[in-house]
Amino acid sequence: MKVSVIGTGYVGLVTGTCLAEVGNDVLCLDVDVNKINILKQGGIPIYEPGLEDMVKRNVAAGRLRFTTDMAESARHGTIQFIAVGTPPDEDGSADLQYVVAAARAIGQNMQEYKVIVDKSTVPVGTADKVRVAVQEELSKRGTQLEFSIASNPEFLKEGAAVDDFMRPDRIVLGAEDARAVELMRSLYAPFNRNHDRLIVMDIKSAELTKYAANAMLATRISFMNELALLAEKMGADIENVRHGIGSDPRIGYHFLYAGCGYGGSCFPKDVQAMQRTAKEYGSELRILNAVEVANERQKEVLLDKITARFGDDLSGKNIALWGLAFKPNTDDMRDAPSRVLIKGLWERGATVTAYDPVAMHEATRIFGNDPRLKLVDTQMAALEGADALAIVTEWQVFRAPDFAALKAKLKNPVIFDGRNLYDPKDVRAHGVEYFGIGRL
Ligand SMILES: NC(=O)c1ccc[n+]([C@@H]2O[C@H](COP(=O)([O-])OP(=O)(O)OC[C@H]3O[C@@H](n4cnc5c(N)ncnc54)[C@H](O)[C@@H]3O)[C@@H](O)[C@H]2O)c1
Repeated sequence: MKVSVIGTGYVGLVTGTCLAEVGNDVLCLDVDVNKINILKQGGIPIYEPGLEDMVKRNVAAGRLRFTTDMAESARHGTIQFIAVGTPPDEDGSADLQYVVAAARAIGQNMQEYKVIVDKSTVPVGTADKVRVAVQEELSKRGTQLEFSIASNPEFLKEGAAVDDFMRPDRIVLGAEDARAVELMRSLYAPFNRNHDRLIVMDIKSAELTKYAANAMLATRISFMNELALLAEKMGADIENVRHGIGSDPRIGYHFLYAGCGYGGSCFPKDVQAMQRTAKEYGSELRILNAVEVANERQKEVLLDKITARFGDDLSGKNIALWGLAFKPNTDDMRDAPSRVLIKGLWERGATVTAYDPVAMHEATRIFGNDPRLKLVDTQMAALEGADALAIVTEWQVFRAPDFAALKAKLKNPVIFDGRNLYDPKDVRAHGVEYFGIGRL
């Protein structure tokens, strides 16, 4: 099947590549010339496990191509995925300018029937806006062409995106005409062989499903984070509580980890956008409001612990930071808790020496060459002469450090563990002071 993917970011590149992998003829478009040039030269603009090899394989097989030419892209795919960014607007609502621009470009250039599929995370009602934009452009051209609109929200997780796409839990499809459903069903057939994962519904429900999923996951995290703060005051251990409740199948273990807050390109903006959408409909999502407030608060927790231990004035102190990405296996630092901690430490006069397995170039892009942030090549090098260690991302390589070596390198053997990676008793047994989140 001929497929075009508009927007070659985390979602677009993974979608296009995985669809090529199962035999489709895919053209990925982006307005970012730099990104497309990297891809055309055999490089890859993002870090995502397994993606680079898959891109290379499919480019070599002639099933995957990249372009900045909108007309070419609009003509190529019978299925036109829109996978552009939907960043928060100033008021927190999703900024739909890129989605609408993509829709207009399709309308300006299409020559025959298309299924226009929204894969970006968009508020309920966006499909109608896409339909109107395409129709307006066709009318301007004085052309009558048939097209279908569908919503196919993406549930992949950065860091496991290829696997999630190739082996999805579910494929949600909002579509209201048989032709679109049939085409999408055959597109997804290779991912559906074991059992039918396609859940077909009306478009508005599909749009809402994506926000509901992220909002539910964010709620679980904020709930555990608030309980962790309470557990600390009470002298209880949140890890014991997590085991205690996770064992209930109605609750389950997933997304119950207390930590230093959620970040990334999805949860923060989607929770905000959902609140904005609710307001437009005269509703208030009180729970989500609290989820967001609790998370903003949680991003300060590590700094609070550091100042409680060392005092408010951190001038002359150097803090080692393990982890910059908002979660492991990605270089994405959008809304990452590390950014809040770094800024907070700087404001109190401290400097930071940081290590992350893949996000260092992203940190350089964000912070430039600020002398208050030193990036080093190994996790142990970050500890050299530092006053304490703060852990912000739960990378596997941080899980079992040599505590004796760690103690020898730190000026003060203190760990502020924002991801509860260690057993406090083990760490303390090595003569290292330990502060987790909600732990005894
Ligand atoms: N990143 C995730 O884990 C994830 C998961 C599920 C859903 N989503 C959603 O998918 C959407 C895309 O997210 P992302 O993380 O891939 O974003 P991204 O910023 O990595 O990529 C978006 C790309 O779209 C391009 N673009 C913008 N306007 C364009 C246009 N008119 N034509 C062509 N290209 C254009 C940008 O240059 C950029 O490369 C968002 O709505 C996001 O909420 C993201």
